Amino acid sequence: MSTKLWGGRFSGALDPLMEEFNASIDFDRRLWQADIHGSQAYARALARAGLLTEQEAEQIVAGLERVAGEWAAGQFEIQAGDEDIHTANERRLTELIGPIAGKLHTGRSRNDQVATDLRLWLREELKTSEEQLRTLIGVAVERAATEIELLMPGYTHLQPAQPTRWSHWLLSYAWAWQRDALRLQDLLNRVNLMPLGNGALAGNPFPIDRCQLAHDLGFAAPTPNSLDGVSDRDFVAEALFWATMTMLHISRWAEDLVIYSSREFGFITLADAYSTGSSLMPQKKNPDSLELLRGKAGRVFGNMSGLLMTLKGLPSTYNKDLQEDKEPLFDAVDTLNRALPIAAGALATLSVNGKNMARALVPEMLATDLAEYLVRKGVPFRETHHVAGAAVALAESSGSALTDLSLAELQSLHPAFEEDVTAIWSYEGSVEQRDARGGSSRRAVQEQIEALLLWLERPAPE
Ligand code: ARG
Repeated sequence: MSTKLWGGRFSGALDPLMEEFNASIDFDRRLWQADIHGSQAYARALARAGLLTEQEAEQIVAGLERVAGEWAAGQFEIQAGDEDIHTANERRLTELIGPIAGKLHTGRSRNDQVATDLRLWLREELKTSEEQLRTLIGVAVERAATEIELLMPGYTHLQPAQPTRWSHWLLSYAWAWQRDALRLQDLLNRVNLMPLGNGALAGNPFPIDRCQLAHDLGFAAPTPNSLDGVSDRDFVAEALFWATMTMLHISRWAEDLVIYSSREFGFITLADAYSTGSSLMPQKKNPDSLELLRGKAGRVFGNMSGLLMTLKGLPSTYNKDLQEDKEPLFDAVDTLNRALPIAAGALATLSVNGKNMARALVPEMLATDLAEYLVRKGVPFRETHHVAGAAVALAESSGSALTDLSLAELQSLHPAFEEDVTAIWSYEGSVEQRDARGGSSRRAVQEQIEALLLWLERPAPE
């Protein structure tokens, strides 16, 4: 007789290559703990429904505990025929407690089981992600607070645009990461629903109290429709999008730092702990940590697009294609959970070269301030923009800096220029002008720091 869970109607053996092709144990074994928890809770639910005696349920729960012990100790032996984690755990349970183990799967299918296991697993992993994301945000906010006096050029199109604060730049990513954290909390609402009790597709024929079962497993609620419950992988797709978006923010941040750490910029120096050398050029110190973070964003995106392609066009309910949900999810979550501490470490240990940042501030970056000076004198902005542009051109043609133009020269461009125009030739002054909420002024940056600190103090909801 076949030893397959589904072997009853089969007489021929599986082609060996097909056997291998079909198996998911190599990767889904990492769901072992979720699978045990799900089964233990299900055994208790069966007992409450009168399908197992209390004693039988206890035997199953205790047997599963022993199986878990073997996994935890690295002693679980996977055997030929253990096609997936569900099969393996049930096979081992049967060896340990005998035929009574065969009652565990009553009313259950691997279809509702695997969807439940994956949700349980993801829920735990995302807690780690959330903590690490908060740590990263914390590092950015802390640096922003202590290095608030440092000015640097702000860029658009990677061209020097206007002076800003290093802290303001740091916080620009902290806010993006905070959105990632908020998105994560929202996503958890949809991860934390329980498909168990949906059977293969049509529902459970026994009086299983799914609300109680969901409660026992820490789920917010049972899924509302069994056909949807066994096939819904939106939570996987959403998690992959979330991971992609988070990695994308990390990637852009890393790209900025790669540029800032180049010799030509020299704004920051990455710690040795996050850099590597060249096997050929002895002088090289390369920002490998940042480049890997940037590179891995592409890999996570690939996982997301691959899964979406797998889901597209699936007919209703469970199809074996869905076994392809796990590897991209595992890879994305592993990649992200390894990336977050590297990003935090690289950020916490880099050194900032404030002098180089200040040196990179060039007078032309105050051209906007010149236009705004005239606005304060009542000249319409469209006109002042033109005048300031003419001032830049005048300075350029006379080979001097914008800030070196004489009052007479400025007045030749517009009569509203007065003695006090020299006051705008200050980078600090320019930054301090931008005091509206969300701007670069010390006060506006401080306001952001306080808002993020307040948010960080609030514990993540369970
Ligand atoms: N290993 C399968 C998966 O990961 C479990 C569900 C199998 N169900 C089935 N009817 N073949 O999706």
